[in-house]
Amino acid sequence: MPSFRGLTLPEKTSLITPLGYKILRYLADNVKRREWFTYEEISRENNCIKCSEIINLLYDLRLIDKEEILGKDSFRLNFSGLIVVSLKELYARGIIERAGSVIGTGKESIVMHGETKSGEKVVIKSHVLRKSSFRNSRKYRSYAIGRDMISASIMGASIEAKALEMVGLAGGHVPKFYGGSRNSIVMQFIDGRELYKVKDKIQDPEEVFWQIAGTLRIAFKEVGLIHGDLSEYNVMYSMEEGKAYVIDWPQAKSVKERDYDVYLSKDIKKLVNFFNKNYKLAIEEEEVIEYIKGD
Ligand SMILES: Nc1ncnc2c1ncn2[C@@H]1O[C@H](COP(=O)(O)OP(=O)(O)OP(=O)(O)O)[C@@H](O)[C@H]1O
Ligand SMILES: [Mg+2]
Repeated sequence: MPSFRGLTLPEKTSLITPLGYKILRYLADNVKRREWFTYEEISRENNCIKCSEIINLLYDLRLIDKEEILGKDSFRLNFSGLIVVSLKELYARGIIERAGSVIGTGKESIVMHGETKSGEKVVIKSHVLRKSSFRNSRKYRSYAIGRDMISASIMGASIEAKALEMVGLAGGHVPKFYGGSRNSIVMQFIDGRELYKVKDKIQDPEEVFWQIAGTLRIAFKEVGLIHGDLSEYNVMYSMEEGKAYVIDWPQAKSVKERDYDVYLSKDIKKLVNFFNKNYKLAIEEEEVIEYIKGD
């Protein structure tokens, strides 16, 4: 068996034949109905004779998990497999031309470099919710309760996609949204760094603060959304543009939710604390909330 250790997900994606892709897609489409499938079931439902060879390859590439259940080898899609399906779909729909190295693997996502057909730099963010990240998560997410992890990740991606698209169209400073598939979304690559990393380099912190508040106001007034996990980790600042982008929206809350005020206050408190503490400012939470909600 060749060693597939160390291959990136885009490299694995390029090794998948149409039949391998068909099987992965079959498993992805049925994830809500069932988790585990035997060789026989996968072969029968995909009309293939030599399926076992391909299933073994998918397992060797660690795109599916294997376990013996009731004496029979059984397989299920894992997150790498789901990401491969989403990358194939993003290529097929012409949303990306290339997927490259990983920028970062977070607790709840894998972020990769990518490029569109016309050469624009993008990132591909694949949502990967894990049980452990749930339990300890400060980002407790109501949409994920009671759903399997794969479906919950797909739901997170779809909330983030909608938020990026709508807040961006309304004029907020968020990465431009290009499209999505399953648990992956494609957005503009921001040539900047997280706010907490550049805090000593910002010339006019008060201006940056109100820029961020402006995006939150647009999200609130024009789109009806609250970020829900705002912090200095989820704002990227581009020195070149002098622009602060609000990122990481999968836990966005609707203003129609019962406790929306609680989420809004939490977001504002974090942001105000960061700016007041680091730059000796005296911004008041109430004044910011009034600005975000006001006419
Ligand atoms: N559009 C972008 N352009 C450039 N880098 C990005 C972009 N989106 C995300 N990143 C990078 O990936 C990191 C993680 O992204 P994000 O905050 O959206 O996901 P996350 O699920 O919160 O991950 P983590 O668990 O690491 O916080 C960011 O801190 C940033 O370094
Ligand atoms: Mg984040």
